[in-house]
Amino acid sequence: MTLKVLVAYATKNWSTAEIARTITEVLRKEGLEADMRLVRDVHELQAYDAVILGSPLYEGRWHKDARQFVKRKSEALARRPVWLFSSGPLDPSASEGKIPPVASVRRALIRIHAKEHVTFGGCLSEDAQSWTARTLVKAGKGGDFRDFKQISAWAQRIGATLHGDIAVQPDGS
Ligand SMILES: Cc1cc2nc3c(=O)[nH]c(=O)nc-3n(C[C@H](O)[C@H](O)[C@H](O)COP(=O)(O)O)c2cc1C
Repeated sequence: MTLKVLVAYATKNWSTAEIARTITEVLRKEGLEADMRLVRDVHELQAYDAVILGSPLYEGRWHKDARQFVKRKSEALARRPVWLFSSGPLDPSASEGKIPPVASVRRALIRIHAKEHVTFGGCLSEDAQSWTARTLVKAGKGGDFRDFKQISAWAQRIGATLHGDIAVQPDGS
């Protein structure tokens, strides 16, 4: 049986979409079925054995679409293995050490019994949507701090865990 994984993500400026794409591609290479969807377009989880949910941080919180998804689907999420990721820091800190989840994500982690949370570095470029974002870039606070090696390694580990889950038979063999 091939396990089917949903990689759901929120985004404003699309850099988190590229993180989600990398995760999806790695899972497929690992022999899993993986769908990548904008979280606001996800209505049903029935078809999925596991979920990876990610969101950028804006002013210390996840994107609204991701927060609402967790509220809307908390029961269905709690019944599946779920991994969470945040993208945000515009400096190398996320590649250098583990950054804990912000308070609301920590609460979500507990509510849906998520297996793990990781914070990846973020990205902010000149073509960002909002005036505030572009002002930050002009002030030298932008850049691309996504570490695709780190992201791929994380996805590989999830793939291995999911393969392990199916390898374990009900009698524990
Ligand atoms: C107005 C604004 C507020 C931000 N707030 C945070 C924050 O609180 N914590 C953080 O780590 N990153 C913060 N960031 C960085 C974003 O999370 C980062 O640029 C992220 O990669 C954006 O993802 P997206 O391109 O998918 O929208 C902020 C960026 C902007 C423009």
